[in-house]
Amino acid sequence: MNKEEFYQLLEARRSIRKYKPDMPPREVIERVLAAGMQGPSGKNRQNWRYYVVTGKKRDEYLAYSQKSWLGIKDILQQRLKPSLYQFTERFFFTLGDAPVLIFCYSHNTPDERYHTSIGSVYMGVENMNLACFVEGLGCCTMGAPLEIKEDVDKFLGVDQLPEYKAGELELLCGMVIGYPDHAPPKAPRQLEGRVTWLA
Ligand SMILES: Cc1cc2nc3c(=O)[nH]c(=O)nc-3n(C[C@H](O)[C@H](O)[C@H](O)COP(=O)(O)O)c2cc1C
Repeated sequence: MNKEEFYQLLEARRSIRKYKPDMPPREVIERVLAAGMQGPSGKNRQNWRYYVVTGKKRDEYLAYSQKSWLGIKDILQQRLKPSLYQFTERFFFTLGDAPVLIFCYSHNTPDERYHTSIGSVYMGVENMNLACFVEGLGCCTMGAPLEIKEDVDKFLGVDQLPEYKAGELELLCGMVIGYPDHAPPKAPRQLEGRVTWLA
């Protein structure tokens, strides 16, 4: 890949919210996960923990996604125009028919003074966003599961782990993944006030 192709890749990635029902081959999802684990991490702790949910378990999660909508819908109703609000509501009810869900956790170390573990996981998540794109997949990173964090912990069985009981395992986001069934426009970027140069 040359320089232009790299920047083009960053520009072309989109969050996808409508998917074909086809299940991606497991080895493709494994490559996406491996891309996540190529990311940098504080003290190279590689403290990401990924839970991949497919099949019946994925179908079961829809009821949880619908519950997470209840926590968000009032804010979105004020912020989104009605058509986008309806599209988003549908997305939460169906997850856009995405066949694969990945829940991304951080194993935080007790002596950590800053948010380096958390930051490390999000870096992996961006790698996975880009890997999905080059694999011909779409994905959408989702903070919505945080609305129902404890439900998700139980749903995945994470709450039974000793590191969870020690307060060290933290859900940071979900990802929905599948083959795209729409081509949304680029969400505009605002550059103003984002960068300050000093010399
Ligand atoms: C941490 C994080 C949480 C997000 N949570 C949600 C979500 O709950 N639901 C959703 O539809 N999109 C979610 N998104 C996707 C953003 O809405 C999207 O990235 C943004 O609008 C820019 O669009 P783009 O990804 O197509 O460039 C999230 C993205 C990030 C990085």
